[in-house]
Amino acid sequence: MEKFRLMAPGPCMIPDRVYQAMTRHIIHHRSAEFRSLVKEVVEGLKYVFQTKNEMLIFTSSGTGGMESSVANLFSAGDKVLVVRAGTFGERWTQICKSYGLAVKTIDVEWGRAVNPKLVEQRLKEDKEGKIKGVFTTHTETSTGTETDMEEIGNILADYGALLICDSVSGLGTCNLQTDAWQIDVVISGSQKGLMTPPGLCFVSLSEAAWSAHKKAKSPRFYFDYSNYRKFMESSSTPFTPAISLLYGLREALSMIREEGLSNIFSRHERLARATRAAVTAMNLSLFSINHASNVTIVNGPDGVDVEEMRERMLRRFGIYIAGGQGDLMGKVFRIGHMGYCDAIDILSTISALDIVLTDMGHIFNQAQGVKAAQDILGEE
Ligand SMILES: Cc1ncc(COP(=O)(O)O)c(C=O)c1O
Repeated sequence: MEKFRLMAPGPCMIPDRVYQAMTRHIIHHRSAEFRSLVKEVVEGLKYVFQTKNEMLIFTSSGTGGMESSVANLFSAGDKVLVVRAGTFGERWTQICKSYGLAVKTIDVEWGRAVNPKLVEQRLKEDKEGKIKGVFTTHTETSTGTETDMEEIGNILADYGALLICDSVSGLGTCNLQTDAWQIDVVISGSQKGLMTPPGLCFVSLSEAAWSAHKKAKSPRFYFDYSNYRKFMESSSTPFTPAISLLYGLREALSMIREEGLSNIFSRHERLARATRAAVTAMNLSLFSINHASNVTIVNGPDGVDVEEMRERMLRRFGIYIAGGQGDLMGKVFRIGHMGYCDAIDILSTISALDIVLTDMGHIFNQAQGVKAAQDILGEE
């Protein structure tokens, strides 16, 4: 018997309710039934995005949503600012450069979140107001940090630039108040906090973003916002959508409403606190300084081959934890506690880690990690 636990920071585990919802027969995407499905999903997404802005749904992974915002809101030569604090900030840079934008970056030491004052400083230095967009990452999944989007939103309110936020991993795990924090564009994907398999992405757009879209000249076809907007007005999509994923998402969004956003955020915080306490008690050190509560990044201990450790976790216990990305490959491991994840998932992961690290010769007080996690997760 083998039970599998996907403890990665995306894709993540899927509730049985969502899997079951996805087994329904396929309906036609021009039917009334499909339109009512989209309507329900859009309502649910607006709740999670905490927005009244218009919402577009694409059949694509999160990166497609990121690219769509560059293609639809900017033109070659436009000056933009990218906060680059890890792999996903680097992805923004690459996409913007691919479309010929004039990219300036704020480079942040990996493991730290950007100081919002640096964003303000760059905007102040831009006396002629040429910066048209600021690209950010809500939770930088490669380094385990959370950006202060509220503060950055406050700062941008005094400038003309659009605020664009990649919340592919953050949405539905860490608080993000699209409207209250004045975030013009938020992009997310189905496979993390939204507890649905990969394959859908979502983009919310403010009025200012729609105005920028009218002027933007970058080439686009599949992701053309005007085309999508026209179809979404009647709760439809221009091209054949991933209908089964939408069934699953509708169910996941019902689960999210049942639990409530604030409970979801505090569950993530608790799981994160427990995981951090556990690994610290196991004589391991944390990689990040400004912790996001959806992933814990741990430095590989001296003398232990991280990739072999991950392999043993999977082979012996059916637990998949992720490795490092980019320059961190082989140096850290990442425990995702994102979306459909509970206390028992964390306790199981820490117990398995305890056994595997003991076998691999890491010196620490055995069972202390489990105890530290229990102390936090056992609280009423
Ligand atoms: C913060 C962040 N941005 C973007 C992406 C890219 O999403 P996808 O792999 O769905 O294209 C991810 C996925 O890991 C992510 O965590």
